[in-house]
Amino acid sequence: MGFLENVALSISAEHITLLKAIITLMLVIHIPYVSIVMGGVFFSSVFSALDKRESNPIHLRFSRELIELVTSKRSAPALLGILPLFTLILAFSQLYQGSGFKIANYLLIVALLAVAGFVLLYFYKGSFSNRDRLFPLHILLGLGAVLAFFGGYIILASTTSLIFFPEKWPFVNTPFPLFIYENEIPRHGMFLFFTFALTGAAILYFYFSWPERKKDLDPDYANFVKKFAAILALVSVLLQPIFICWNLLTFPDAASSETVFAVWGVTLFMLMIISMFLYSSLNSANQRFSGVVFILFLATFIVMTVNDQIAAGNANFEREKLLAKKAEEIHQQILAAREGRQEAATQVDGTEVFNRICVACHTFDTRIVGPPYMSVLPKYVDNEDALIEFIMNPAKIDPDYPPMPNQGVKKAEATAVAEYLMEELAKRQ
Ligand code: HEC
Repeated sequence: MGFLENVALSISAEHITLLKAIITLMLVIHIPYVSIVMGGVFFSSVFSALDKRESNPIHLRFSRELIELVTSKRSAPALLGILPLFTLILAFSQLYQGSGFKIANYLLIVALLAVAGFVLLYFYKGSFSNRDRLFPLHILLGLGAVLAFFGGYIILASTTSLIFFPEKWPFVNTPFPLFIYENEIPRHGMFLFFTFALTGAAILYFYFSWPERKKDLDPDYANFVKKFAAILALVSVLLQPIFICWNLLTFPDAASSETVFAVWGVTLFMLMIISMFLYSSLNSANQRFSGVVFILFLATFIVMTVNDQIAAGNANFEREKLLAKKAEEIHQQILAAREGRQEAATQVDGTEVFNRICVACHTFDTRIVGPPYMSVLPKYVDNEDALIEFIMNPAKIDPDYPPMPNQGVKKAEATAVAEYLMEELAKRQ
């Protein structure tokens, strides 16, 4: 991946802020989407297997519908799945250039696994038509997709958390940066249960609140879906604080700050509100809160992602300062070089102007067309401006001579040649 190191440009402080905004945006687009896809294909496979063991039309229908739900937008895998990952690769490799952190390599593996996951996901969807005949293949495709996504996201979670441990980067030589820092297990736990919680919330939302929701739900089926999704989300949300606190206890000092801890507090509070909403959906027939819950989940995730960026900034404070300083130096060099060029371009050589224009009519000592300089220049000593003015706009002066035709010299040329003349005068006197 030397290529990605070479595309790294020197980046200014503003550039760093912009990259972080792009990274946050891409993570916020990508992770919730892939979480729902991964959760969807996982539970689809589980319910397909349950139906195989003991035939149950509700399980089979739910298994099929889950996979339809996660594949309903054809452009989503490219736009929300793959594109953000490649944007992340570029943005991260800019931000961590020259640091020894092989973040682009790790994210490339994540991207390849995601591509494999989506391919397997669509094969799995297709295999429903031959499910009875080729059940083992059907279930293998489903689990294969789950494993590809899950493997990718374990690496993504590891990589983005490794950002908090710059001191470890030079020593991480594995292609899979797994289990090399203290709080890896709680962070994976947070990620896993976030995935399940969001899957549950998304199911509630898409079944009960979405404008295009299924309207042909019979009460038994609706009740099953509601119970499953609400319990899944609720249990996952309730487990989340354990991992968040565990994460906080093992959080690296370099990445922590009061803000980071305060935002984790906000996160816990939001999760508490979500769990209250979920509890009430579980117990009520109407699902008017499922939209709110889904939005609150996404908001919580945005808060967590921004917080991670703040923590990453804390852990990399000096490195980022250094990058910005380097960029500033390079910027100054470029400015200086440009000024130098401009000066060179405007610098006019007085001798050259004299030899090109004035020698036709003037020498210093003898009269040609115009008077010898030795006789006319002394009056301009200490009054070079007047000389410059005369050279640019000659006026009639000495009746012994014809008037000097205007030579059309520019101000810079007049100044340069006037200086040259006065220097020569001083030498000759
Ligand atoms: C075509 C001929 C011609 C050229 C070319 C020419 N001059 Fe002259 N120059 C004259 C003449 C004729 C006079 C006398 C004008 C007068 O006294 O009214 C004069 C006078 C002068 C004077 C004296 C002004 C004074 O106060 O008495 C200066 C200084 C001078 N020229 C500078 C220059 C410079 C510098 C150039 C080149 C950029 C130049 N000239 C090019 C013909 C020329």
